[in-house]
Amino acid sequence: MPLRGVIFDLDGVITDTAEYHYLAWKRLADEEGLPFTRADNEQLRGVSRLESLLLILGDRHLPETRVQEMMDAKNAYYQQMLEQVSPRDLLPGVAALLDELDRAAIPYAVASASRNAREVVQRLGLADRLAALADGNSVPRTKPAPDLFRFAAAQLRIMPHQALVVEDAAAGVAAALSAGIPPLALGPEERFAELGPARALFARRDDLDGVTLADLRLAATPDPHWHVVEDHFDPGAQRHMETIFTTGNGYFASRGSFEEGYPGDHALTLAHGLFDDAPIVFTELVNLPNWLDLRIRIDGQPFRLDQGELLGYWRGLDLRHGILHRHIHWRAPGGAVLNLSFERFISYTEPHLGALRVLITAINQQCEVALDAGINGHVANDNLLHWQHLDEGYAGDFVWLHSRTRGTRIELASAARLQTPADDPLGARQCPGHPGLGLSQLLPAGQTLQADKLVAYASSRDDAPGEPERGVLPRALLYLENQSYDHLKAAHIAAWQQVWHDIDVVITGDLEAQRAIRFNLFQLQVAAPRHDDRVSIGAKTLSGLGYRGHVFWDTEIFILPFFTYTQPAIARNLLLYRYHTLPGARRKAATNGYRGAQYAWESAATGDEVTPSYVPAFGGTGLVRIWTGDIEIHISADVAYAIMQYWRVTGDDAFMRDYGAEMILETARFWADRAEPEEVDGEIRFAYRDVIGPDEYHDHVDNNVYTNRMAQWHLQTALQLLDWLRDYAPAKASALLAEIGLAEEELAHWREVAENIILLFDEETGLFTQFEGFFDLTPVDWSAFRDRTTSMQVLLGIEGANQSQVIKQPDVLMMLLLLREHYDDPRIWQVNWETYEPLADHEYGSSLGPGFHAWAACQMGEAQQAYDFFMLAARADLENVRGNAGDGIHAASAGGLWQALAFGFAGLRLTEDGYEVDPCLPPHWERLAFNFYLHGKQQRIDIHNERR
Ligand code: BGC
Repeated sequence: MPLRGVIFDLDGVITDTAEYHYLAWKRLADEEGLPFTRADNEQLRGVSRLESLLLILGDRHLPETRVQEMMDAKNAYYQQMLEQVSPRDLLPGVAALLDELDRAAIPYAVASASRNAREVVQRLGLADRLAALADGNSVPRTKPAPDLFRFAAAQLRIMPHQALVVEDAAAGVAAALSAGIPPLALGPEERFAELGPARALFARRDDLDGVTLADLRLAATPDPHWHVVEDHFDPGAQRHMETIFTTGNGYFASRGSFEEGYPGDHALTLAHGLFDDAPIVFTELVNLPNWLDLRIRIDGQPFRLDQGELLGYWRGLDLRHGILHRHIHWRAPGGAVLNLSFERFISYTEPHLGALRVLITAINQQCEVALDAGINGHVANDNLLHWQHLDEGYAGDFVWLHSRTRGTRIELASAARLQTPADDPLGARQCPGHPGLGLSQLLPAGQTLQADKLVAYASSRDDAPGEPERGVLPRALLYLENQSYDHLKAAHIAAWQQVWHDIDVVITGDLEAQRAIRFNLFQLQVAAPRHDDRVSIGAKTLSGLGYRGHVFWDTEIFILPFFTYTQPAIARNLLLYRYHTLPGARRKAATNGYRGAQYAWESAATGDEVTPSYVPAFGGTGLVRIWTGDIEIHISADVAYAIMQYWRVTGDDAFMRDYGAEMILETARFWADRAEPEEVDGEIRFAYRDVIGPDEYHDHVDNNVYTNRMAQWHLQTALQLLDWLRDYAPAKASALLAEIGLAEEELAHWREVAENIILLFDEETGLFTQFEGFFDLTPVDWSAFRDRTTSMQVLLGIEGANQSQVIKQPDVLMMLLLLREHYDDPRIWQVNWETYEPLADHEYGSSLGPGFHAWAACQMGEAQQAYDFFMLAARADLENVRGNAGDGIHAASAGGLWQALAFGFAGLRLTEDGYEVDPCLPPHWERLAFNFYLHGKQQRIDIHNERR
């Protein structure tokens, strides 16, 4: 990003008038007999004259006139001293740096709170070189308010993100941060301690001695390893960008739509568990009343990017701190030019709260700014309306809307608070279903209007079952009490730092991969329920309406391992969701005539099957029957697999005893009952006919390897688990068996089924046959499809794909990866890899595939191929490689990336007494490092590539 201008603070940065201030205060203090040392002076940096004096006076109270006299005296001493200032007083490094800026034609300004700044600049010989000067007379609010630096940027005619502020005071650094301008802080580290977690947001140097333009550029550039940036506005890409810029906190999340709206945008805020009934898809997460809603009018004309003239645009998601920034340089239809900066985050410490800040700076002329911040209840899921609005109102700086979903009757209160520095009088807007608060101001050129909007959601789902209902509205209003944007933001930043300590993956030597993994983990994290164990992560997280918030095997097999290894408490919540939805799974089994529990292929609030039976055909003509809800049965084993993995990694025996065992046993019953006994060569064998395996290009298949082998594993695991439970918690074991009515005969049947499940495996070659007849299907001539831009299923047709040897995602290879401890014969890996990898529709089949193919390629020692698959997954959303990122984040792909890194590239494997790694890094990666927890103890993997 180009650095287009530098804004220097004066005292302590360009020259040491700080020293003169000290001497002037010292003289006054000595005369008055007040104790004052250099150390005391440290506290006066960047502090106004009055506050400085009060600090020196300590608990002495003097009449106001006396205070004024003393301030005047100090100023007079200071002015006298200023007469001595000359170009010799430039601090070390300044002259050389300014020369370099001149040579590079980068303009610079001085912005100082001092009213004497102009005189000092003149005496320093800089007056003619400065492109702008902002001083104590320029703006009403001093640092740490953002106004002074915004004023300077406006004078320089640049956008805030194109500037750099050089500051030596904590208050000045804070001002730059609020202005949206990156600061370079000068001085010892302790000086900035008071900025707390915000210290992570800026670069620091001791002084300017030796600092070059290159250093300034570096300090001004958001760290590309941690930022996803959009540097121009492309209306056609908005749907995609809205997905990318989703932020959230595991309670709710919002797409990156613009606060002011844009024609055809897809503003969407979703909260976990907030489902309502819907035709065809049964149930869907409901778009919440829009909290981002912020209407701005400039001289009576609406601010929106399709109006007026867009002169500059920048948007960036700071992954490290979970903050979304946007800067706009815009000419209103009436001619006024403005800098508008938006910043927002969904609080990681206060799950019900979101916060946004807008700064509007007039550049070329005075204009009238009207701002209206509301809660827009006129929202729909596409065209379906879910809300009934019960009540709305306002008081002071609060406004609220009380709503209820039509079908599920979940109540939601959305409340907002609008805070402005001057406590401007707010006007209420009473528009049914869309209440709001507004203000209007004449904004002279160079001045900034700031508004902070804090929003709370409270729903009737929040009350734990059995707890007395407290009413959603009082709760929402209470969440907003005593909150301020800055405090919330500081806590939010600190919380994200903690999160990254657990989840970060360091990849050195590959900027794109580094940023992509952080982006993908960020998107999983913002969707991860931390405070609720009755919800799970849907296939599109909370970032889009794709799959309507339904939960698939994506969670257990693709997403969960990341949480199990890095944040077991979240993994536990996600697994408990399956426990709470066990009644739904029991209903599904019963409806289909089976014992035990059968998990839904698509699951929502209750665990009942919610897969739509029909969806519109590709291209929009007619309907297609969807069979997955009926016959894609492997999901029950997938849940069991995730539970076993969690248990092994965490050692959480209590979880297994109280919840895990019941889930695994109940679903095992389903497998034993669903198995079809058949006589093969005089022996009884068990088949699973008419199923869909992971490869959904083929439906109604028989004896799918993945399904059968996972069912077998599940039954064997359940039997061993029961032995463990009887041993570990005998009373619990008998109680559980009695409760679910599981008798010895049934267990004997499990054993029989497990031992005799049909597995299409050729002992001689080691090759599995994906399902009966797979190799009789038509081979695909891939050369004919080289330049395709869509899936093989679209190109061949549903029936065509069904009849061909083309697979949507790994199926046999998937089974081998999950059960790799049972398959250590390299021959088996080789033949199945060679057979199945080339048949997969990598680019346009399932997005679940590439991450796992990357892992499989590592198993084969194919680092380069693994890397290519890895990047295909890494770009799924960032680069929209499949063209459907607009529907929401590909969550399973994101989870698969972590597994490719941990299990594939690092080769992490648990062993009897710990773990081992067997790295296979792409040649250009220098280093791969991450943390994980094993039995509650954090472990560090740090691999340096020796092959380089
Ligand atoms: C994939 C499934 C996946 C679902 C939801 C489908 O396209 O084939 O494996 O569970 O999408 O992501």
